Amino acid sequence: MATLTALKALLVFLVAIAPAPFLVKSEDTNKVFSPCLDTTVQVSDGFTFAIAFSSRTSFFFNSSLQLSPCDRRLALTGQNSQISVFRPKVDEISLLTINTSSFYPENYGGYMVAFAGRKYAARSLPAFVANNTYSVTSFTLVLEFKKGRLQNLYWKRDGCAKCSGNSNFVCLNNQDCAIRTSLCKSNGGSVDCSLGIQLAFSGTDKHFSALNSWYEVENLRQYSLYGLYSNLRNSLTSQYSKIF
Ligand SMILES: *[C@@H]1O[C@H](CO)[C@@H](O)[C@H](O)[C@H]1NC(C)=O
Ligand SMILES: *[C@@H]1O[C@H](CO)[C@@H](O)[C@H](O)[C@H]1NC(C)=O
Ligand SMILES: *[C@@H]1O[C@H](CO)[C@@H](O)[C@H](O)[C@H]1NC(C)=O
Repeated sequence: MATLTALKALLVFLVAIAPAPFLVKSEDTNKVFSPCLDTTVQVSDGFTFAIAFSSRTSFFFNSSLQLSPCDRRLALTGQNSQISVFRPKVDEISLLTINTSSFYPENYGGYMVAFAGRKYAARSLPAFVANNTYSVTSFTLVLEFKKGRLQNLYWKRDGCAKCSGNSNFVCLNNQDCAIRTSLCKSNGGSVDCSLGIQLAFSGTDKHFSALNSWYEVENLRQYSLYGLYSNLRNSLTSQYSKIF
């Protein structure tokens, strides 16, 4: 019993002193704020990247070569497209949201590409977001770094296990759970079809420190992060239990 009390006291002590070492490094040393410039980052820096919404074909040059949306040859600005810029902290799991109450991805081609960099341009494959029939609202994006430079961006799919057997969801291409767009608020339905994009970091930062948030996300279940964002919980998760 006495040992247990001593152990508890030690734990309280450890918890009390633990935050200090972590606070020291938490400043943002990355001076690059444009998603179309190159940079190298370290843990706890901010990192700017962007997501472009457009049609699938508009991300390809000459119908065959997928280029970064920063590449002028794509002429995305002259097309029906939208861009959202984000600056998450390196190696922190973040949940990005794109509110669709006044932005309808289906009106901008329905696909999205995540991108960053210029000479070392990285871009994800185009991911289907929405058309007039289906909307996909939940994504996981992995940002892979090598010595602090972004190498790759990819959408991590975990199949349709979460929506199989639920008639309100449709499994698209064996990889995305989609809801009928007619159920979305923008179409007079009851579901807030805002996009939730869970971010994770993998690889190494410029000091060769391993970026680990990816391993944490891998063990989280879909939607689990939404619980951490109390203002989103109601609109993005409980609505599902309400209508299903
Ligand atoms: C575009 O593709 C066509 C056919 O694949 C090819 O002949 C042409 O040279 C390409 N143009 C450019 C600018 O790459
Ligand atoms: C989107 O914006 C609308 C209107 O401001 C708001 O009612 C709704 O809760 C927002 N949804 C999310 C997921 O933030
Ligand atoms: C909407 O997208 C789905 C999945 O990509 C596709 O199967 C369907 O044909 C599309 N519907 C329309 C009307 O474009």
